Amino acid sequence: MALCMALHGTLHVVYFGFGFVLKAIKNSGRLPPSPWALLIVGHLHLLGPSLHHSFHKLSTCYGPLMSICIGSVLGVVTSSPDVTKERLKTNDVTFAARNSSAAIECLTYNSSFAFAPNGPYWLFMKKLTTVELLGSRTLRQFLPIRTNKLHELIRFLFEKSKSGESVNIRDELLKFTNNIISPMMLSIRCSGKGGQAEECRTLAREVAEIFGEFKSFDIQGFHRRFKDIHRRFDSLLENVITNREKLRKEKKESEEKVKGLLDILLDCSGESEFGDQVSVHLFRNIPFLYFGFPHSWHRYFIHDVQWALAELINHPMVLQKAQQEIDQVVGRNGPVQESYVPHLPYIQAIIKESFRIHPPIPLLNRRALEDCKIGNYISPKGTLLFVNLWSMGRVDPKIWKNPLEFQPERFLSQSNSEIDVRGLHYQLLPFGIGRRGCPGLSLAMQELPTTLAAMIQCFNFKVTSPDGVVDMSERPQLSSPRARDLMCVPVARCPRNILN
Ligand code: HEM
Repeated sequence: MALCMALHGTLHVVYFGFGFVLKAIKNSGRLPPSPWALLIVGHLHLLGPSLHHSFHKLSTCYGPLMSICIGSVLGVVTSSPDVTKERLKTNDVTFAARNSSAAIECLTYNSSFAFAPNGPYWLFMKKLTTVELLGSRTLRQFLPIRTNKLHELIRFLFEKSKSGESVNIRDELLKFTNNIISPMMLSIRCSGKGGQAEECRTLAREVAEIFGEFKSFDIQGFHRRFKDIHRRFDSLLENVITNREKLRKEKKESEEKVKGLLDILLDCSGESEFGDQVSVHLFRNIPFLYFGFPHSWHRYFIHDVQWALAELINHPMVLQKAQQEIDQVVGRNGPVQESYVPHLPYIQAIIKESFRIHPPIPLLNRRALEDCKIGNYISPKGTLLFVNLWSMGRVDPKIWKNPLEFQPERFLSQSNSEIDVRGLHYQLLPFGIGRRGCPGLSLAMQELPTTLAAMIQCFNFKVTSPDGVVDMSERPQLSSPRARDLMCVPVARCPRNILN
């Protein structure tokens, strides 16, 4: 560590380029410690496909605040709650931008609000999403759809349990989330096979994969795939929008009491200050809102339920305790519903514990809008800030006792019971923080515990591996998905008529 630190001063002169160094000198600050870098590639040679793993490994040598060069772009990585707080608590506005990529700009025609700079257009879209689409009134209106789709999932698991067949939990959760989000976004139903429904699901998976790729050495192949997705994306959405507009003209939409995002945007195009921009970009915003913000929310929801369930299968005592809580609070005469969640503290602790060990977005990514000096260190305008949530959840035993162990009880202890996921506690930030924090938090925190609780209320899950243990390896990607989909046989522990 001492050697690494001693070397870092030299490094800035060797690599970071005179621009950065002069700025640092002018602002009488310097760049945080960093490994030796190579000309042109910077630290790219030190980074693997899982950036959070690479950053974590480097931070054990260079400390919780380090600089990193991705090609010619300067980045700063934080790996502890204190250092992150120092950067984001008072500098939220400075770091209120995101780095986009050529793929994202092309797919969204450079108009996604999640990547928009922190200005009036972003504010308008954020309000629309937070208040109109994800506000408590709309979420209440969509509750019957969510309940209905959850029951469909449970019914399907009952069938498989009867025949003793193994289920790919990931695939079923993907159908489930698609069925919830499609009416909210596009006002279409997404169940069933074939046609628009199937195309939506296929595209969701492909987009998630293409955004998840950090390095693609097969540039030509990547472009070909990307162009193809882009073309199919546009044509699918054109269809959806044209059909919707036709229905609205025929006034059939009045039969539906609940409006999805497509309706909300169609309503305000031409009406608001940003009406023209909305209508021009309507087409471009929807796909991104639907399939991927800075992320595709389906993917993170699915990751979290899969990781949590896998941990429960590997920790039968925790599973038993969770089932006891559900039996006491809900019983076995009716299924878990969203309204029970506040009364299920152990289930909530399980969700938090899974976020801690397996954060669905392991790295928060922001960009400095202007030069910023914090302590002795300068972050020049354009610096990327990476907050390594993955590292923060696992490393420091002073913050988390036995950090590598799955112990939901830690969130029920007196010292940790206050910790929640809303961005106030820097040791647990699965939904990010501040003005660019996740507006889908309420929906996710209603849906995640309800889905997990309903599944373990009705079933135990038997894995098919010879040792009966779930493999917990991660696939090397920008997010932290499971290496293998969770496959298991549901074994009913409640009568099927629980859904009646
Ligand atoms: C398990 C579920 C989810 C997780 C773990 C998650 C996590 C995150 C994270 C970490 C960010 C970046 C925050 C930051 O930079 O500080 C984010 C941003 C965002 N999320 Fe989510 N999210 C989830 C579900 C959702 C849902 C359900 C929606 C909407 C339907 C949503 C919409 C968004 C949007 C629009 C942004 C960008 C906000 C902005 O730039 O202003 N998310 N999310």
